Amino acid sequence: MGSQQDQPIVRMVQQHITGRPVSLHVPGHKNGTVFPASLTEWEKILPYDLTEIAGLDDLHEPEEGIAEAEHLAAEVFGAAKTWFLINGSTAGNLAMVMAAFSPGDQVLVQRDAHKSVMNAVKLAGARAVFARPEIDETTQLSIGISREILADAWARYPSLKGVIITSPSYEGWSSDISSLAEFVHGHNGVLLVDEAHGAHFAASPQLPKEALAQGADVVVQSAHKMLPALTMSAYLHASGSRVSRERLSYYLRMLQSSSPSYLLLASLDAARHYVHTIQHKGWCAEQLSVQKQELEAVIGSRLIQPPEHVAADPLKWLVPVPEGYTGWEVQEALEQEDIYSELAGSSYVLWALPLTNGRIDIPLKAVRRVWAGLELRDVKRAPSFSMSELFPRLSEGAWEEEPGGEEWILLESAEGRNAAAPLVPYPPGIPLWLEGEYVDVERIRYARDLLQNGGRLQGGRKEDDRFFVKVKHRKKG
Ligand SMILES: Cc1ncc(COP(=O)(O)O)c(C=O)c1O
Repeated sequence: MGSQQDQPIVRMVQQHITGRPVSLHVPGHKNGTVFPASLTEWEKILPYDLTEIAGLDDLHEPEEGIAEAEHLAAEVFGAAKTWFLINGSTAGNLAMVMAAFSPGDQVLVQRDAHKSVMNAVKLAGARAVFARPEIDETTQLSIGISREILADAWARYPSLKGVIITSPSYEGWSSDISSLAEFVHGHNGVLLVDEAHGAHFAASPQLPKEALAQGADVVVQSAHKMLPALTMSAYLHASGSRVSRERLSYYLRMLQSSSPSYLLLASLDAARHYVHTIQHKGWCAEQLSVQKQELEAVIGSRLIQPPEHVAADPLKWLVPVPEGYTGWEVQEALEQEDIYSELAGSSYVLWALPLTNGRIDIPLKAVRRVWAGLELRDVKRAPSFSMSELFPRLSEGAWEEEPGGEEWILLESAEGRNAAAPLVPYPPGIPLWLEGEYVDVERIRYARDLLQNGGRLQGGRKEDDRFFVKVKHRKKG
């Protein structure tokens, strides 16, 4: 095993560049010497944008620097094996689910999963049983699935082969994974965790405990979300032998680009080194909590917290907006001050903060201006829908393609029809309905509410003020 001080991919690429290589290979920008003038500022990084040539290893059959870097990452994140991903957690979720399950397998899926998990189940040909997560009554936010629902699911569907959960949630709230892992393994199932938002958890015991350390079999993490890494870079980690590592490699070779970006690979290597450094030197939450209090003083209220038994990521701040306003309105007001939030909900904006020991750049004066500009509104907004109104506690997914045509109709007319395409609020990317699902009035109202408040929906079609969705033709007879 190499040293954690080393960054094998970064080193390998730097060595290559130092030799002032002549590029007679792809990519066409030839180490940045042939490039559109509008992007001259990229000059410094273009030589790093390489491909698999001699001395640079091969992501799909790693033996040198990439293999070393993946070994070092496995050590830091506590995995038996780690793969570097250059197509985001999306590719990780697809490979993880396709490797773990075979066509026809029944699998329990947390209903507020990212669309990539839903797509993965579909591509694997598995049969989903959806489990609604527990909902925090105060905030109506998801707090993950409980052991009780696992027990109910296994009682009703004893042939379940495993469970796919999402933890932490987009808002940074974590499930009690060890208790879920104990149950699932006790029933001979596998536990897969989409930990896209928790790649930084291994850095400090002051952060929620990582899924791997709690017994998950395979875990996907978007390095780019909460670690200092480039967009689309991610990790896939495996532990134990319940899911075949050969199958994981097989699907990754199938699903990932055959021309992986060395910018992304180097950034995954450097992000691992960053986590190792913090593990070693320690991370101090003190600075962050001082800044949190400063913000609370400016906005005149406490940040939103989960119930006591739920571990929350201190780097995700749920900032409540004043009474009478929606999170989308405040998000827009903040953008006028050049402050961009991670997402907005009906009553909050979500901020994702960096993992650092230094002071974080939060322009409090601008935030004060925004809050001062929000006039008092004497309207109480009706609380947004809760997930418990939208999704049943346990439900079987529509998994077999039904023949028959499809049509675009007005959102308002879709009640009682079966969806022909998923409709996905984005962010966070959790499908409101999936292909084949029955469209009910609650979900139509939810979609309408979201659109009226400035939320975005993928999978529909907008024409002026009208919004169309794709549904299946009514069955005859
Ligand atoms: C929970 C969750 N899983 C997976 C993904 C997909 O991650 P990526 O963008 O790295 O492909 C996202 C993206 O937002 C997500 O929120």
